[in-house]
Amino acid sequence: VADVAQRGEEREGVADRREGSAVVTTTVLAVAGTASTEVWCNFDQGLPDPRHFPVADLERCVVETLRADGADALKYYGDGGPSEMQLGSVALREEIAARAGRRDGRAVGVDEVILAHGSTDGLALAVRALLGPGDGAVVEAATYAHTERFVRATGATIRTVPLDDDGMVVNDLRGVLGALRDDGVRPRLIYTIPTFQSPTGTVLTYARREELLAVAGEWDVLVLEDNCYYELAYEGPPPPTLFALDASGRVVQSDSFSKVIAPGLRLAWVIAGAEVVAELAAARQDFSVSQLLARAVARYVAEGSLDAHIVELRDVYRRKRDITATALLEHCGGCVRFRVPAGGLYFWLELAPGVRWEAARARARKLGVACRPADSLAGDPSGRGFVRLAPMQVPDADIDRGIEVLGRAIAASTG
Ligand SMILES: Cc1ncc(COP(=O)(O)O)c(C=O)c1O
Repeated sequence: VADVAQRGEEREGVADRREGSAVVTTTVLAVAGTASTEVWCNFDQGLPDPRHFPVADLERCVVETLRADGADALKYYGDGGPSEMQLGSVALREEIAARAGRRDGRAVGVDEVILAHGSTDGLALAVRALLGPGDGAVVEAATYAHTERFVRATGATIRTVPLDDDGMVVNDLRGVLGALRDDGVRPRLIYTIPTFQSPTGTVLTYARREELLAVAGEWDVLVLEDNCYYELAYEGPPPPTLFALDASGRVVQSDSFSKVIAPGLRLAWVIAGAEVVAELAAARQDFSVSQLLARAVARYVAEGSLDAHIVELRDVYRRKRDITATALLEHCGGCVRFRVPAGGLYFWLELAPGVRWEAARARARKLGVACRPADSLAGDPSGRGFVRLAPMQVPDADIDRGIEVLGRAIAASTG
């Protein structure tokens, strides 16, 4: 780390510290020109709380899987036949199809689900399969940066649509699609995170969901719905997913166990019509996900543990959200504006004019509090002046202290 600091770069390393029975990863940061500081309060990474990873249940499910399935759990594929090397374990696809089907009120078949190594991989697979040079893709003005990067890598043209308090400004969609067409590009895909959007935390209203699907129909484009925060709802159920509302087979839904079980599982999925799923399978360059892990997680889902865990998580994260909102009002009231998110992992802070964010960020970091600047997330320069705060991985007792440090750092960097 010292070496990195000497070279004048900024890098992250990780160190484990034991807290009770859980191993908590803290980030050690080396900042150009500063001594390395252990980050005791990490608001930066979109990580769910590691203290609530269901370690014991997962251990039991892995052991039970090995006892019940023996060597079959360790082969390239099992009962589902060789297609499991493209789509993934049929046992887990069955559970995912049943759960998504119940929630979204649609019958989902196992050939309409493809497993991926995290939804980052699922999103990469989807854009690689569905986009190419000459195609146009629309993303939200602030979005999940990796998807945007994957879209660029296909050679497709990207345009952004603004966001407001109700999510994507769907009214602007037609104009953006028209501009793509006028530039000789074929509009092909809309990528959206409609529920508890990252980074803004917004929820697309029911009416806008319907309008978005209507526009997608008019323009004959696919909609890639990133649904990875949907279950983390703290104020009752959010509006139905786009997949639930879609009658035309245009919605490709990406989802993940990362935020509701643990990101290190690297287990996620994409649901779409069987033909689209086959296109994703054809674009795949591996033999799908681990049979052992997929079967163990299928067991965890089938026995009802996932649903019970999500109910618990909602309570844990609602409490953290409330602690965060109170602390922000108390310590940052004059220098940031924010909306209390109804779900998900993030607060989206709008900085008051005159705040020099990079200076504030460096000050807070020197004191062990890490935050992410919006411009590394936004697909549009208008993202500057905003900060994404991810408080859920921070212990309850540290959230207030961390925000106090942040508030002082911002106040000292204003004007
Ligand atoms: C909007 C969005 N999509 C996808 C992901 C990727 O999650 P994973 O690859 O762990 O499933 C994230 C992670 O932060 C995210 O914020």
